[in-house]
Amino acid sequence: MADAVPVKLRRLVVVGLGLIGGSFAKGLREKGVFEEVLGVDRDPETRRLAVELGVVDRCEESLEQACREADVIQLAVPILAMEKVLAELSRYDLGNAVLTDVGSAKGNVVRAARATFGSMPPRFVPGHPIAGSEQSGVEAANAELFRRHKVILTPLADTDPQALALVDSLWCELGADVEHMDVDHHDEVLAATSHLPHLLAFTLVDSLAKRSENLEIFRYAAGGFRDFTRIAGSDPVMWHDIFLANREAVLRILDVFRGDLDALREAVDSGDGHQLLGVFTRARVAREHFSKILARRAYVDAMHNNDLIYLAQPGGSLSGRVRVPGDKSISHRSIMLGSLAEGTTEVEGFLEGEDALATIQAFRDMGVVIEGPQHGRVTVHGVGLHGLKPPPGPLYLGNSGTSMRLLSGLLAAQSFDTTLTGDASLSKRPMNRVAKPLREMGAVIETGPEGRPPLTIRGGQRLTGMNYEMPMASAQVKSCLLLAGLYAAGETAVTEPAPTRDHTERMLRGFGYPVDVQGSTARVESGHKLSATHIEVPADISSAAFFLVAASIAEGSEIVLEHVGINPTRTGVIDILKLMGADITLENQREVGGEPVADLCVRSAKLKGIDIPEDLVPLAIDEFPVLFVAAANAEGRTVLRGAEELRVKESDRIQVMADGLKALGVKCEPTPDGIIIDGGAYGGGEVWSHGDHRIAMSFSVASLRAGGPIRIHDCANVATSFPTFLGLASQTGIRVAVESN
Ligand code: S3P
Repeated sequence: MADAVPVKLRRLVVVGLGLIGGSFAKGLREKGVFEEVLGVDRDPETRRLAVELGVVDRCEESLEQACREADVIQLAVPILAMEKVLAELSRYDLGNAVLTDVGSAKGNVVRAARATFGSMPPRFVPGHPIAGSEQSGVEAANAELFRRHKVILTPLADTDPQALALVDSLWCELGADVEHMDVDHHDEVLAATSHLPHLLAFTLVDSLAKRSENLEIFRYAAGGFRDFTRIAGSDPVMWHDIFLANREAVLRILDVFRGDLDALREAVDSGDGHQLLGVFTRARVAREHFSKILARRAYVDAMHNNDLIYLAQPGGSLSGRVRVPGDKSISHRSIMLGSLAEGTTEVEGFLEGEDALATIQAFRDMGVVIEGPQHGRVTVHGVGLHGLKPPPGPLYLGNSGTSMRLLSGLLAAQSFDTTLTGDASLSKRPMNRVAKPLREMGAVIETGPEGRPPLTIRGGQRLTGMNYEMPMASAQVKSCLLLAGLYAAGETAVTEPAPTRDHTERMLRGFGYPVDVQGSTARVESGHKLSATHIEVPADISSAAFFLVAASIAEGSEIVLEHVGINPTRTGVIDILKLMGADITLENQREVGGEPVADLCVRSAKLKGIDIPEDLVPLAIDEFPVLFVAAANAEGRTVLRGAEELRVKESDRIQVMADGLKALGVKCEPTPDGIIIDGGAYGGGEVWSHGDHRIAMSFSVASLRAGGPIRIHDCANVATSFPTFLGLASQTGIRVAVESN
């Protein structure tokens, strides 16, 4: 991107004082970038108005006169008039002037320039501001028109870099976001995103207006019609020019669209509601995502560009009854198995966090119709084990390791290729732990350097079942292989070195798929099918853990956490806290959909340091960051060993927690496979969560006993697993909020 405009420039000439040309002139005139802003327009009334409205300093009738001594000449005439203006300019001595334009199609401008000048002048920088409106004329000129709008410049290989930098800096001066693009690519993109919608709006209005009962139609045309056809109020001459100028690209996208429209017509004709729902649900999600991008709220944006800071005030105690959001592991699996099942699966209590939403999106991209989530309800229209379709592009899985590892298992057996990508954190996580055993089963998988994402999985392979002894206790690896096993010839058996969460095994059975579990080995064989079912997702014990620790360490607290999943492969956090002296009772124990749940009642207690039994490590693997906070508040020393897996989670949780705790004054020492923490008083301070949701929430909890406020950086990813954390925290008594600036 260019910096500020270099020096005071002498003369800007804007040829064509319509909305765009007028706004460009007016904006730069107000900024005082040029000594003089001069307008050229065929229409005398426009010239008069342009001066009267302060759009330009003065106007010239003669183009030759105006362009003498110009530093920059902006061509803002209608596209089809461009050739004539260029022909005229080619006869004049333009000195060192930089030429640029604002045409909505670029290929034709470049062709016209080549035809008139003999070759493309190196100081001609083609450009296109995407900031039109249905308004037109110099009266509508607006110095702010381009603020936060995109401007695409399409330089050629021999465009003078100085000329490019100058044009770039002028647009930046007007507040625009400048991007550079290849000419042909620009024309394709604009044909799809701008030209096609205008064509549809014009034709819809015309088509309805032609009908004899048009008065009736228009009388009842309400919001939808008005919104959809707003752009049919645009300048017909300008649009006629654009379609003639960008003919090839428009025809290509029109043919694609016609195909899609025919398919939709066919679906309506044959009563194919499934097809309609598929198109509509995908479109709705895409549109929501697009709105977020427009509002600059897309989560990719937030994660990479913004440092969302939480400020946690010291002190406080907890009270009340809360239900934390749905279990992340179970939510992922409900979408995966629901998609592969025959029939319609209803899910309740689904976690509407970004990780689980990434899984939904991946299956939508593979042709599964998924309604919702709405208030935790999701409807998955299963396609059967062999019904997935090739996705249109790479599957982007955000921050979610579970999505990537589990999906790689079931994608290894599909007939089509897929590529799995993720955000910066996921792109650093080890994938060989799944790629290697899958290859042993016959899968063809390429990884990035050192077994990191992206993963490219080749379709059309025949997998064979195997007996696999996992080198680490990982439910993701186990689940990945069991999912591959649904497709592999014969039996697939996975043996784990220590018990890990068994949601996959339980849910497979819930879908009617036989799973044999003997001791530490789980087995599936191919050849069965999944039948749709109803799933109630319990509240996530990993999210409840923050409140278990918070209420334990904050004096005078008593809180009830409702409907928490207490699957015995997940309750390590309760066992460890109890060993430390916590007061936690399980009430109202029951079973929903194959998973045990209970209401957890927690009262504050004096905690003491312990040696954490190693066999509890895999059963509390996600809860260690907040358990470290419990240890910092316990009397005496807590020692954790055998937890090297923590180093390859969303962040290196041993190091990142140790750094943060030390910043607060806690005495602690990281070890290769754990940490030693000496409990005691600590202060406030500044800590970094490194984009790891659980670290951000853990330090929020730490504030309850801190001597001063804790500022926690990089908290945007809390939305991956616990989007309502701040609300529930303040409702129960943890004083944490987004820092206002
Ligand atoms: C998960 C398994 C665990 C856990 C993760 C979710 C799952 O990962 O840390 O948050 O849903 O299977 P590992 O399998 O890497 O231990």
